[in-house]
Amino acid sequence: MTDTLTVPPTALEPLPGQAPPLIDLRSDTVTRPTPAMYERMRTAALGDDGLDGDPTARELEALAARTLGKEAGLYVPTATMGNLLAVLAQVRRQGQVVLESSAHMFLTERGGATLSGTAYVGLAGAAGAMDLTALASALRPSGALPTELVCMETTHVNAGGAVLPLAHMQAVHDLAHGAGARVHVDGARLFNAAVALGVAPAVVARHADTVSICLSKGLSAPAGAVLAGPAQTIARARRLRKMLGGTQRQIGLLAAAGLEAIETMPHQLAHDHATARRLGDALRTLRPGVVGITAPITNIVFVELPDAVPDSAAWARELAQHGVLIRPWGPRRIRLVTHRHIGAACIDTAAEGFRQAARALLG
Ligand SMILES: Cc1ncc(COP(=O)(O)O)c(C=O)c1O
Repeated sequence: MTDTLTVPPTALEPLPGQAPPLIDLRSDTVTRPTPAMYERMRTAALGDDGLDGDPTARELEALAARTLGKEAGLYVPTATMGNLLAVLAQVRRQGQVVLESSAHMFLTERGGATLSGTAYVGLAGAAGAMDLTALASALRPSGALPTELVCMETTHVNAGGAVLPLAHMQAVHDLAHGAGARVHVDGARLFNAAVALGVAPAVVARHADTVSICLSKGLSAPAGAVLAGPAQTIARARRLRKMLGGTQRQIGLLAAAGLEAIETMPHQLAHDHATARRLGDALRTLRPGVVGITAPITNIVFVELPDAVPDSAAWARELAQHGVLIRPWGPRRIRLVTHRHIGAACIDTAAEGFRQAARALLG
């Protein structure tokens, strides 16, 4: 047995004799741990987190809580589990959870309602921000189920990485608290929001009782997320995590990478946002001009495909031929996400891939 971890090449570093690496724009989840993360993992103090605690996991929980301005934190395997625990810890069975209707928690994680016995209600929104009149109405007591939790998402993945305005977050918080409901923020990319707004993460998290952050997206840790909030709520979530099978043993091994992620990686996100702008600009100059390109605010670019052109699956297949990996986001939309393995040269290569794909698909 060896006591050292081998650091593999980054996604964009070809092994000797290999074909040129792919430009992987499918998600910021493809990011690999940094060399400093591997070193921190190798030397992390470990314990049994299900027995008497893992010191590195505890250190990460405390750091995340401090960074988000909350009393306590809980390390969880995924952001999905963090969001589910926020619901389980704060909403009674038959309670209602209100979300903007294109939120990740609503569109992708709603199956969790079958575990929590709660009802998820989606409200109309614009750029990821829920309609406040609809929220006020959902919060009014009626014969329906009581709304006990209101959830926001920032940055908002299905709104193309949109950042919720802080004034909107405050308005949602005030309406919810005025009606006796709590507020949870799905902050899987909260650090991107903080960087885009030029404020500390705690400022974005201020208008939430609980907040989940993901360490394995742009922050580049291999796995993990943290749920932060009031000490009592987090203690309850810790018991519920055990029930879900989310309590892990020498998990400081991964938490060590999470510590490195929070301490050193947020600065990277500004680069990712700049790279996304460069990508959007490059795609807008394509001829033939096939597509509507969103102006990226953070690290996500959407390409909207009109009905007259081949669908997103066809583009994904064609672009892969040119070494560019993208994610169909429904039949008429392509999602492109920048991250630390995508530099300026990759954008030029990706734009050239799009140019050739457009030629092949549009003639
Ligand atoms: C906004 C948002 N919330 C939550 C999640 C879930 O994250 P995980 O894959 O860690 O469960 C994602 C994943 O992409 C996301 O984009």
